[in-house]
Amino acid sequence: MLALFKLPQSSTMAPNIDNLFNFILWVSIVSFTIIVVGLIVFVLKYHRRRSDPEKTPYIEGHTPLELSICTVLFVLLMGIFAWGWIDYAKIITPAQNAVEINLIGRQWLWELEYSNGRKLTNELVIPKGKPVTLIMSSADVIHSFFVPAFRLKQDVVPGAYTQLNFTATEIGIFPAYCAEYCGTAHSGMIAKVRVVEPEAFEKWQQIWEIEQQLGEDSRGDRPVAPTATTEKPEARGQRIYAEKGCSACHTTTGQPLVGPSFKGLFGKQEELADGKKTTVDENYLRESIMDPQAKLVKGFQPVMPTYKGQLSDEEVNGIVAFIKSLKN
Ligand code: CUA
Repeated sequence: MLALFKLPQSSTMAPNIDNLFNFILWVSIVSFTIIVVGLIVFVLKYHRRRSDPEKTPYIEGHTPLELSICTVLFVLLMGIFAWGWIDYAKIITPAQNAVEINLIGRQWLWELEYSNGRKLTNELVIPKGKPVTLIMSSADVIHSFFVPAFRLKQDVVPGAYTQLNFTATEIGIFPAYCAEYCGTAHSGMIAKVRVVEPEAFEKWQQIWEIEQQLGEDSRGDRPVAPTATTEKPEARGQRIYAEKGCSACHTTTGQPLVGPSFKGLFGKQEELADGKKTTVDENYLRESIMDPQAKLVKGFQPVMPTYKGQLSDEEVNGIVAFIKSLKN
C-alpha cells in the first residue's frame, strides 16, 4: 500500500500494522477530498443569489440513496474491524517454541526475566528471526510497553497477564517506551530492545549460564555469587510449591488430590463447576492462585485459600513457569 511516511519496519507485525494504517489513511484522504470539494462546488453553484432571492425548495430525504451510502460505509467499517482483528489475533497468539520472557513493569522501570533466570533492567535482548513471547504484568499501576519500530504497544496491567507475540526482523537497538501515564517518572520509563543474531543470542545466554555455575564473571576477577535472584523462574516456582504447601493438594504426578494435579495442566481444557469450559493459560493460573473460587474446576470443592498479597509478581511468574514445565 502506498505509504506517505516510510518508517523502519523491524518486526513481522510492522508491515501488517502499516498496511492497515495506510489503508485507513487513504480512505480518509479520499473521503475528505470528496466531502470538501463537494462542499465548495455546492456552495459556489447553489448559493442564494440577489438576482434570485427565492427560497431553495425543501427537499425530502432519498431513502434508497441514504440506505446505499449507509450500507457501503457499514461494510467498509466492518472490513476495517475484521482486518484489525486478524492482526490483533497474531499479536496475542503465542507461536510454538517461542522464546518466552517475563516482563514486569513498575514505577518506573522495566524488569525482564528469561527462562534461565537471567534478569535485565530496561534492556530486552532477543534473537532475530525467532518468535518471542513477552508475558507481561505490572507490580503497581497500569503501564504500556511500546516499541515503535516493531509497531507493538500493549498495556501492562496489575493483577493480570497481557502478551505480545512477534518476531524481530532486523539487527539493531530499538527504543521502547512506556505509553501509559504512570506517575512522576513516566517519561523516563525507557528501555532498549537489542536484536542480535540467533547464534549470538545463544552464546550470550550460554556464557552467562557458565558464569553462574562458576560463580564469577567471564574475566574471573569479580565473583558473582549465585543467589536467589538468579534462580530460574521454573525453579523458583518449584521452591514456592514446596514452601507454601501447594503440594498438599496439587500433585505433579497426574493424580488429583484435593485440587487438580499440575501435571499436564497447562494448555488443558477444564470443565468448570458451572458447566462452562476454560483453557488453562497464564491468566487462568494467576486468577486461580489469587481468587481460587472464581473458576472452580468441576469435581473439586471450593476449599483453596487465596494467595492475594502473599506472592509477588515474580513468585506468581515462577509458579506459572513451574506448571508450564509439567506440561508433558
Ligand atoms: Cu510506566 Cu508510564
